[in-house]
Amino acid sequence: MKNADLLKIAKTYGNPVYVYDSEKIISQFNRLTNAFKGVKRLRLNYAAKALSNISILRLMNSLGSGLDTVSIQEVQLGLMAGFKPESIIYTPNGVSLEEIEEAAKLGVQINIDNLSVLEQFGSKHPDIPVCIRINPHVMAGGNSNISVGHIDSKFGISIHQIPHLLRIVELTQMNINGIHMHTGSDILDIDVFLYASEILFETAKNFKNLDFIDFGSGFKVPYKEGDIETNVEELGKKLTDKFNTFCKEYGKELTLAFEPGKFLVSEAGYFLAKVNVVKQTTSTVFASVDSGFNHLIRPMLYGANHTIENISNPQGRERYYSVVGYICETDTFGNNRRINEISEGDILCFKNAGAYCFTMASNYNSRFRPSEVLWHDGKALLIRERESFDDLVRNQVDVKNLFTSEKAEIAVK
Ligand SMILES: Cc1ncc(COP(=O)(O)O)c(C=O)c1O
Repeated sequence: MKNADLLKIAKTYGNPVYVYDSEKIISQFNRLTNAFKGVKRLRLNYAAKALSNISILRLMNSLGSGLDTVSIQEVQLGLMAGFKPESIIYTPNGVSLEEIEEAAKLGVQINIDNLSVLEQFGSKHPDIPVCIRINPHVMAGGNSNISVGHIDSKFGISIHQIPHLLRIVELTQMNINGIHMHTGSDILDIDVFLYASEILFETAKNFKNLDFIDFGSGFKVPYKEGDIETNVEELGKKLTDKFNTFCKEYGKELTLAFEPGKFLVSEAGYFLAKVNVVKQTTSTVFASVDSGFNHLIRPMLYGANHTIENISNPQGRERYYSVVGYICETDTFGNNRRINEISEGDILCFKNAGAYCFTMASNYNSRFRPSEVLWHDGKALLIRERESFDDLVRNQVDVKNLFTSEKAEIAVK
């Protein structure tokens, strides 16, 4: 997107504001689809958790994407956005049997990641096909918080528990129609994918009625200039060969599924915030914006490096700044960043703000969550209003008179 478009959006809708470029989402979707064009049956299930605004979900649906969900609420959002139940996969972790049954009632594909629930669900509903999430014991992912396929991870059923899993399947007579893994996010090395895929293929041989194999996600996208990204084209070629060979051996054309979040929406997102204060201290120059980790937590949570640009003064002399938020704790978006000279009132643009940004926003410090705008066909469309004070207090129950003198008298009597 052009700076002028972003500045106009900030002027029209105020700041801070999230902006999503539909063209980038579409091109990423097409790129991934193309990379796997050698697979007869490919399914991309967009990971709703990355960015779950209903208008974004509608865009994904229009592209022919399926939906990967992790909560009953995400399932409901997906249905509301027009996804057919059969194109939604529900991959929860640590949720109650009741929630899984609720999702099953809605007709979505169930994915179970522990033996306890598998046994209970299979005993009660042997006719509902179930996918199982395997933990392949592979260390992958760009940060320990997003490495989820290793031996100490809470996710998936260990490959060492396959004998127990098979016994449950046999005793309950349940139907396993899919097998799944997700080893982590920001995986750089495609050999990790390929290695884990071998484990998945080996495991898949134990099940006779599979319809699909789901390789999860974890594609790394570039965050700054010169950054490395997952080579999806190379992965596409190599995994396609392995997959097609496996299908021949298996004797059936299976669906190859992925559930990308970051790959589809990260680079499409821009977060715009206004500089309230430029503060020179003895050691640095701080630029404080009208936002904080309540709106964009990834730098504080994962050490994520979002490129920050001063779109109000793109030709200005570059200087070093620490860009910080207004939250009353350490709240740093980036230290020692070279940014075009900043003045109070300038609009800073944070890149890669599409994935895990708005969806992780909170009301911490009793701030409103920002608005969201979709940039589509050269037009800006508001897809979420900025919160108001009413939103902040909507669900609070005010015990108005409990602490007044009137009430105290009543208590004494
Ligand atoms: C089960 C599952 N699938 C898919 C994703 C999406 O991963 P990414 O955003 O790296 O594509 C995640 C992310 O946490 C996940 O937990």
